[in-house]
Amino acid sequence: MPELSKGANGIYGEAAFEVLAKAQELERKGKSILHFEIGEPDMETPENISKAGIKAIKDKKTHYTPSIGILELRKAVQDEIEKTRGYRPNLEQVVITPGLKPGIFFSMLVTVNPGDEVIYQDPGYPTYGSVSSFLGAKGVLAPLLEKNEFRMNPDDIKARITPKTKLIIVNSPQNPTGSVMTKSELEELAELAEENDIFVVSDEIYSKMTYETDHFTPTSRDEAKERTILLDGFSKYYAMTGWRLGYIVAPVKVAERLQDFLVSAVSCTAAFTQWAGLEALTGDQSFIPEMMKRFKEKRDKIVKGLNSIPGFSCLSPKGAFYAFPQICTKLTILLLRY
Ligand SMILES: Cc1ncc(COP(=O)(O)O)c(C=O)c1O
Repeated sequence: MPELSKGANGIYGEAAFEVLAKAQELERKGKSILHFEIGEPDMETPENISKAGIKAIKDKKTHYTPSIGILELRKAVQDEIEKTRGYRPNLEQVVITPGLKPGIFFSMLVTVNPGDEVIYQDPGYPTYGSVSSFLGAKGVLAPLLEKNEFRMNPDDIKARITPKTKLIIVNSPQNPTGSVMTKSELEELAELAEENDIFVVSDEIYSKMTYETDHFTPTSRDEAKERTILLDGFSKYYAMTGWRLGYIVAPVKVAERLQDFLVSAVSCTAAFTQWAGLEALTGDQSFIPEMMKRFKEKRDKIVKGLNSIPGFSCLSPKGAFYAFPQICTKLTILLLRY
């Protein structure tokens, strides 16, 4: 067989999906499994959203859509960003994607060249490292330390910036530590990106999933909007992981290129999924506080339980749905999705 491409040798998989496949195989054999692996809510998609998706199929919304997404959903994203981030992006900046993950992939493809350096959190979401490796870029890890409540420290970013740094990826609320960066930390990060002419990808998939704190975004600085690619989606707080729907708000030039990557890779996001997403953004929102109340109870229970085990210590996460305990006896860290 001829040699595979460098990219094919660079890209790598994700343990959570591998363990999920194994767990489902055991379930098929009749074993009872408690799922602590894949990062998804243990609740079903709200009825109004599912019904909107089913209605779209019945209404024959089963054809191609513009690769950038249906106008109705893109307009709803404009409203959503205005409501939640305090500024109104232009329509040309809004791109709909089949899940947030392709948003990460294509944003990195648009901004990063082989040999560039990409700074991201350690520990962090595996896709950032895998895509960096696929692109022949160097992943530069910014450590998340328990003493800083697992928040990325702007000084650590500063120390890692070199002339080759092209992109900083920030994820807050964070997978897997549940940390939530403060407004001033994100402003400092945005300033560093401006001073050094670096792109920022802000993965805000858990934006509506915080406890005892608000969610902040590096796009709150006007200057940051020119270099920041904001990613958010429907998978987590609307319990829509299997629908595959996300969105990007990017500088116009970046959005245009993203559109071309989308058209070449997937043509468009599934039409009925987009109509379901419109209902998610514009319909009844009571599902989210209900879900967060439930997650908070589970968080408190699991953190208390972990802290009662000799040798374990676990901070109470401020966002998302992960607990990240330190296990002192073996100096290992275990990730749990509650
Ligand atoms: C930080 C982070 N970004 C992106 C994703 C992927 O989101 P989606 O399922 O919408 O592609 C996840 C899912 O676990 C995540 O934790």
